[in-house]
Amino acid sequence: MNPVLVVAGARPNFMKVAPIVAALEAGHIPRFLVHTGQHYDAAMSDTFFSELGIPAPDRHLGVGSGSHASQTARVMEAFEPVLEETRPSWVVVVGDVNSTLACALVASKLRHATGCRIAHVEAGLRSNDWSMPEEVNRVLTDRLSDLLLTPSTDAEQNLLREGIEPERIVFAGNVMIDTLLRMLPAARAMNSPTMVRLAGKPYAVATLHRPSNVDDPDKLRVILTSLCGLTRSMPVVFPLHPRTRQRVTEFGLESLLEPLTATEPLGYTEMLGLQAGAAVVVTDSGGVQEETTVLGIPCVTLRETTERPVTVTEGTNRLAPWPLTEQGILTATNAALAQGSVPLGSRAPHGWDGRASERIVAALESLGSVA
Ligand code: UD1
Repeated sequence: MNPVLVVAGARPNFMKVAPIVAALEAGHIPRFLVHTGQHYDAAMSDTFFSELGIPAPDRHLGVGSGSHASQTARVMEAFEPVLEETRPSWVVVVGDVNSTLACALVASKLRHATGCRIAHVEAGLRSNDWSMPEEVNRVLTDRLSDLLLTPSTDAEQNLLREGIEPERIVFAGNVMIDTLLRMLPAARAMNSPTMVRLAGKPYAVATLHRPSNVDDPDKLRVILTSLCGLTRSMPVVFPLHPRTRQRVTEFGLESLLEPLTATEPLGYTEMLGLQAGAAVVVTDSGGVQEETTVLGIPCVTLRETTERPVTVTEGTNRLAPWPLTEQGILTATNAALAQGSVPLGSRAPHGWDGRASERIVAALESLGSVA
């Protein structure tokens, strides 16, 4: 019986892969989990596997960091023999990281030789900003995939507008929310030292990692200065992505971390618990925009565009005025604070209901030769 091969590569993939693997197992469908190793250290990878109960990968490609070209190429070289050996019925790729595109590209060239088909989970999201590496990864992965599993209705519209045949598109809903709803009780019950220190007080959570924000010293200084400004009203918890940590040091901006509650990258449960209790979240992450929308926590996104517009039109998200300025970020944050939080799920878009992984596995079963 040919397995369903599921690819996980980087931190934002792990919460999407966890419920898909669980749903395959619940349906007794053989699966083969590949970890490309794009993210590799304990804080960015291992802790997500243990907290989310993801089984150990059947194969670890160990590619590590590198330039976009070398990282993508290394995943491709390492993935090709795995595909030839396992001959899966489906290759399931999620999200928009380099590993997503690399594995979809390899599978598309071996489609006929191995008999596999490609399913893209989180298909159809578009920022229309081609300077983002993730946008390149999203558009190309969608072109290469046989089955496009969309998280929201705007994603379907984007694909149809690009001329994708409607038969290739299936609405799945947002699989990340399956993990959020499963983990929320544990997240709320968690008592990490940071959570204990902040309990009962208003606080903000900030995350930052987009190259377009953190690789530019002036922009990084503006953002950090605005977060320092926010500490005049409340503590700001700032878990630092490794890329951001490197840039802060390189640009000599360490003093701007002092007023902030800067931490190492957090595990999933603690990050979710902190978001759920926050007065406001400031971020440039895609996943955090979605999580805050379901949690009902106001969010300010530090980007010019978002590929997740439903978080703005239906959810609790807003974009900070562009170009970013200290005053603009603070004004948007104050407006978000004035808006306040809403009850869990009251702004959740259609299909962000904890059952996306069931719909994904049902689509694979109905269209392909699984089990
Ligand atoms: C990647 C994804 C991005 C995603 C983000 C979430 C692409 C193009 N980008 O960006 O879509 O939102 O992950 O985290 O795929 N590093 C570590 N430990 C690790 C992993 C990385 O220290 O476990 C360091 C690397 O050495 C590198 C930096 O962090 O210097 C950035 O890692 P990289 O994989 O290049 O991209 P991200 O910025 O994490």
